Amino acid sequence: MHRARGLWRAGVACAGSRPLSGGLGAGLGPEAEADSALLRASSPELAQRLRGLALVRGGFVSEEEAVELLREVEPGLARGRYQNDHWDRAITGYRETERGLRGGAGRALLLRVTPAFPARRPPRPSAHVLDLLPGGRVGPHVDSVKFCGCTIAGVSLLSPSVLRLRSLRDSQDWLELLLEPGSLYVLRGAARYEFTHEILPDEESYFGEQRVPRGRRVALIFRNDPPETPPDPLGDLPAFIEDPDDPLPPK
Ligand code: OGA
Ligand code: MN
Repeated sequence: MHRARGLWRAGVACAGSRPLSGGLGAGLGPEAEADSALLRASSPELAQRLRGLALVRGGFVSEEEAVELLREVEPGLARGRYQNDHWDRAITGYRETERGLRGGAGRALLLRVTPAFPARRPPRPSAHVLDLLPGGRVGPHVDSVKFCGCTIAGVSLLSPSVLRLRSLRDSQDWLELLLEPGSLYVLRGAARYEFTHEILPDEESYFGEQRVPRGRRVALIFRNDPPETPPDPLGDLPAFIEDPDDPLPPK
């Protein structure tokens, strides 16, 4: 699918500056703490290393907001058919769309996730909406550095799931995020470039001992544009990579 191809093979690096702070949605920058009950790591060292770079927050959207958001995105999703096998992500049992969130709930959500992004690299105004069947999965992958920037923020609706990160350097290093309906996760810097991420299939869907049965799940995923020169995926990356050529955001 060409649209998806454009979306995924994107990538430039991630340029940016200090995150916005204060106001609505504050506390999503690299200083932010993940909700520790929702995060498991292969070692305390790894948890420390990815502090602020892999973030999960429960209850980011309320049930009422979730209903509104679904109402907004369902018509766009319904235009596509469920498919298997995305060329880049080993994804099965899914349909997807890319859409500008123009309704009240969607615009409010975009504003609330914006502080998770560098001020100079805000999220694109349209969200990637991914609808996974109960039997669907997103296999391990790194989002294209050519088409996607340094920060990925996802809101999960309807079903809980487990997002697993695994180090490209050392497959013993992993992180698991429990994504409850209404939760937000943010991946940036090393967590975005140096780890694969995947949504576990139903038969492997455990958070430690805890079984996380999968139903239909709809995710709204926000990404920013890549910089001119993509970063070296295995370099030592700070959370936000400054690009002196980046224009300052409009005041
Ligand atoms: C993707 C992806 C994660 C999610 O579509 O590239 O990683 O939260 N999705 O569904
Ligand atoms: Mn991805």
